[in-house]
Amino acid sequence: MSNSFYITTPIYYVNDKPHIGHAYTTIAADVITRWHRMNGREAYFLTGTDEHGQKVFEAATKRGISAKAHVDEMCEPFKALWAALDIKNDDFIRTTETRHTSVVSDVLQRLFDEGDIYTADYEGWYSTSAERFWTEKDLVDGKCPDTNTKVEWIKEKNYFFRMSKYADKLRAHIADNPDFLQPASRKNEVLGYLKKDVGDLCISRPKARLPWGIPFPMDAEYVTYVWFDALLNYISAIGYHPDGSTDAFEKWWPASYHLVGKDILTTHSVYWSTMLFAMGLSPAKCLYAHGWWTIEGQKMSKSIGNVVDPHLLIDCYGSDAVRYFLMREIQFGADGDFSHAGLMTRYNADLANDLGNLAHRALSMTSKWLGGAVPALDANTAADDALQAVSDAAVADYRVQIEGMHIATALGSLWRLVQAGNKYIDDMEPWRLNREGQTERLAGVMRRCLEICRVAAVLLSPVAPNKGLELAQKLGVKSLDVADVQLLSGLVADTPVAPGEPLFPRMLALPERIQAVLDEVVPSTVKTVAKVSHKKKPKQEAKVAEETTTIEEAATIEEATTIEEFIQFEDFMKVKLKVGEIVSAEKHPNADRLLALMVEVGEDRPRSIVAGIAAKYVAEDLIGKKIVIVANLKPRKLRGVLSEGMLLAASGTELEGLITVDPGVNPGSSVG
Ligand code: MSP
Repeated sequence: MSNSFYITTPIYYVNDKPHIGHAYTTIAADVITRWHRMNGREAYFLTGTDEHGQKVFEAATKRGISAKAHVDEMCEPFKALWAALDIKNDDFIRTTETRHTSVVSDVLQRLFDEGDIYTADYEGWYSTSAERFWTEKDLVDGKCPDTNTKVEWIKEKNYFFRMSKYADKLRAHIADNPDFLQPASRKNEVLGYLKKDVGDLCISRPKARLPWGIPFPMDAEYVTYVWFDALLNYISAIGYHPDGSTDAFEKWWPASYHLVGKDILTTHSVYWSTMLFAMGLSPAKCLYAHGWWTIEGQKMSKSIGNVVDPHLLIDCYGSDAVRYFLMREIQFGADGDFSHAGLMTRYNADLANDLGNLAHRALSMTSKWLGGAVPALDANTAADDALQAVSDAAVADYRVQIEGMHIATALGSLWRLVQAGNKYIDDMEPWRLNREGQTERLAGVMRRCLEICRVAAVLLSPVAPNKGLELAQKLGVKSLDVADVQLLSGLVADTPVAPGEPLFPRMLALPERIQAVLDEVVPSTVKTVAKVSHKKKPKQEAKVAEETTTIEEAATIEEATTIEEFIQFEDFMKVKLKVGEIVSAEKHPNADRLLALMVEVGEDRPRSIVAGIAAKYVAEDLIGKKIVIVANLKPRKLRGVLSEGMLLAASGTELEGLITVDPGVNPGSSVG
């Protein structure tokens, strides 16, 4: 693998405010770049804005300002979003910069001199809104098939790029370079396109019609077609020049990846590759076309009013969680649907629960029982060997997947390890080891749990850089070193560790600002579901629906103890009581009288139980207590936190105390 890695995103049109579609590609490029940098490769990551064209000119005219003043203003929101999303691009190119326009101009002259650009009369149906010509059969009801606006018949002289001349070379290039077009389905699409006759490309627009473009050097009456101009950004930014390029260009080209949306596959695979051939250059090593996001099941569009502003998501969830969600939710390449309920569900399930619990349990038990420092390893048991094998496999798979651009699958591999970590805690029962005074084993077990947190911190960091670092800091790890990251022995014994604040606090209900957006734009979907909680509903939305439960409706300890009617023995037998051990406890984020507990009951993971005992107990004092829970009570949310059981307690007019159990009884034992 060569040591230099060059990745690009499309350059975004400045006539739109940046939305999650734009954020998606840019985040993916950032994730991959961070990964390669962590692995010691030199990387260059380019993004930017596409600033010429009809729409930009019209928007500026409407505002009564110059096109230049307009684009200077309109590129800023992109830069601001990249900063808010922790995007670490090396360069941001604007097609109105001289370093770009001069290259476009010189390439036009060179290709004209060499005969690959020529003039001819062009006739066709022209759509101003789509900025392109159509043939008669393309039109739908006599209108532009893209924008459904009127078209006019135009006959004019234009400049053409001899694209047809390079079509065979492109066909051969695709055949010889199986990784060039990805995913494979996209390759078939391009091959389908290339089955037809590939014509030449009209690359000029008369200045009279479109004054806002790069002028043709050999004909001031014409400006360059926006795509011919825009595609050249990928090489103008890194120092290409037809008369001699910089060393930087030689170093970075051909790019490792052009990431593009599926809608701009043809322009990149056919127009751009043939342009490069004409310039005597090779295409990028890989053109990766990703899918499109719909929003709550609908196409994202300004007219529907459902365009998702990434800043809103960042404000509500933080940049790391937004990045994680967009990368985890759909496979890079496939289409997917964005839903606010889906984001909150995944946030809670993956980040707050799986990863958050692992970190919290590992760090708080180490703090409570082992003096808050990285404990020493003990000799491996079979269970420890098995855990190491999971880590080996997860890290190896993560590496393969992320390098193949399958970011969602890579995260899935990491999560297998996180889940294995939680299961390891359940199986090893550190609370029992502590109780039985098996200090050496307890230390070894907790050490391995902390090690998994370290692996998670490192592998999470390309996707969620701040949280990766935060978790590493909690573990006393200074650098996110990926070499041999899988070995569950990388921490330094005796380094102080501390649980601190939760990495990803649970999200109790959709943030008010998001709910307000949904109320406005999606009246028929999420809003209704949120109120009807008992109808059969899609899994993701179910959790939001349950948010409607309030503490008043909920089964509390007090209610349970005031029932005095006789019941049948069979009725009593329906109640399953179990012994549980409290493994973590914290204040309920949304209710003063409640505590949110994690209770070990001998299952594959501890249960989350909300209890109205805050008036009597301080959260930390509960860790390690053995209590009795009602285990078959239907789970429900209490003020937004899932409660999967109820604690038994003694109470008169107020709560007197929890029913506790002999320390020797194992969690999970039945009571009765
Ligand atoms: N300016 C051209 C690209 C020139 S590259 C030399 C352009 N710009 S764009 O702003 O319209 O689109 C940029 C990217 O955003 C495209 O890759 C497009 O696929 C992507 N997306 C726009 N909406 C999207 C979704 N709803 N979902 C995912 N990506 C989407 O095209």
